[in-house]
Amino acid sequence: MMGMVYRGLHLATMAEAGYGLVARGALAVAEGCLVWVGPEAALGPEYGHWPRHDCGGRLATPALIDCHTHLVFAGNRATEFERRLQGASYAEIAQAGGGIRSTVAATRAASPEALLVAALARLEAMIAGGVATVEIKSGYGLDLESEVRMLRVARALGGMRRVRVVTSCLAAHAVPEGGDADTYIECICSEILPAMAEENLADAVDGFCEGIAFSPAQIERVFAAAQRLGLPVKLHAEQLSNLGGAALAARHQALSADHLEYLDAEGVAAMAASGTVAVLLPGAFYTLRERQAPPVALLREAGVPMAVATDCNPGSSPMTSLLLALNMACTLFRLTPEEALAGATRIAAAALGLSRETGTLEAGKSADVAIWEAEHPAELAYRIGGVPLHLRLFRGLP
Ligand code: NIG
Ligand code: FE
Repeated sequence: MMGMVYRGLHLATMAEAGYGLVARGALAVAEGCLVWVGPEAALGPEYGHWPRHDCGGRLATPALIDCHTHLVFAGNRATEFERRLQGASYAEIAQAGGGIRSTVAATRAASPEALLVAALARLEAMIAGGVATVEIKSGYGLDLESEVRMLRVARALGGMRRVRVVTSCLAAHAVPEGGDADTYIECICSEILPAMAEENLADAVDGFCEGIAFSPAQIERVFAAAQRLGLPVKLHAEQLSNLGGAALAARHQALSADHLEYLDAEGVAAMAASGTVAVLLPGAFYTLRERQAPPVALLREAGVPMAVATDCNPGSSPMTSLLLALNMACTLFRLTPEEALAGATRIAAAALGLSRETGTLEAGKSADVAIWEAEHPAELAYRIGGVPLHLRLFRGLP
């Protein structure tokens, strides 16, 4: 076996709590995997004849993981942004037929090629920001054909760039125009999810549990159908109000519950007991000018792992910068830079069920590495704007 040694690195392995700093470190990469990680001085003689790349003392972290995005959509919602600035709320706009439904209309009208081109531009911005794994949801189709089309586009994106794409079926995102919520839930359970499973289009099943979307009882039906198909679940929960969505997700061993601004102590305890990851989405909090931040201190105290993601979508979080989300998570939610970086690496991998594969710099993991023009990992969450990425490896290749 012959691979490549990257030396002259400050490593933040993120392998356990803390940065896992290794000064003057090295990585040995072969066949797409990390085969050795540690201090350069301890690099064994078996790697002596491997080609070496000197990284000039730069910082290496696991490549970033954006574990919650709605990357595939058509159009934009800038006029809705203007209306919100004039005083209309996100929920009011949604109830008046705007919001998610307006993106549904644009997405249904777009060809698969147009959806692909629009999403690819956003994906490229993420990759340029050090991301190597991205989760992509459906949810702007709201019928069998359009939901399937969205996830086919998501899967195609994974074949077009050096990136790992993980998909979620979010058919339970909103009630389709002129439709009835319970009838639509039945359609999700008996038609949409089975079709997704048949074509292996969804790695997980998501929903939106909220007054303006679906009730806990309706989400429960979706989760039961997902479980019959052997698909893991996750949930948009407690974003605008507290309906007990996180506890419902925890009862179904959800991979994650996401948003969580209105999560209470009971929900925190339920998540802690089930090991469900809390995915924090400060871009949506910022965009909607929310006042109530998620209960980070309670989550931390209970040992609930916290991930951070962009929630990239045209309505509540038109952002592609995961580094900016890290900054917002620190400034708006009071995460430490260490927690924020873990939230976009090791914990984000857990939120996608990928802990064995990626998210840390450890021998045996995929060689997904970001090398930064930085000395200390706190710099990643500290700067606003600008991308200090020097080199990104995905499965060992730039
Ligand atoms: O994660 N909360 C619901 N879904 C998205 C917003 C989607 C939209 O407004 O288009 C979110 O914030
Ligand atoms: Fe979302």
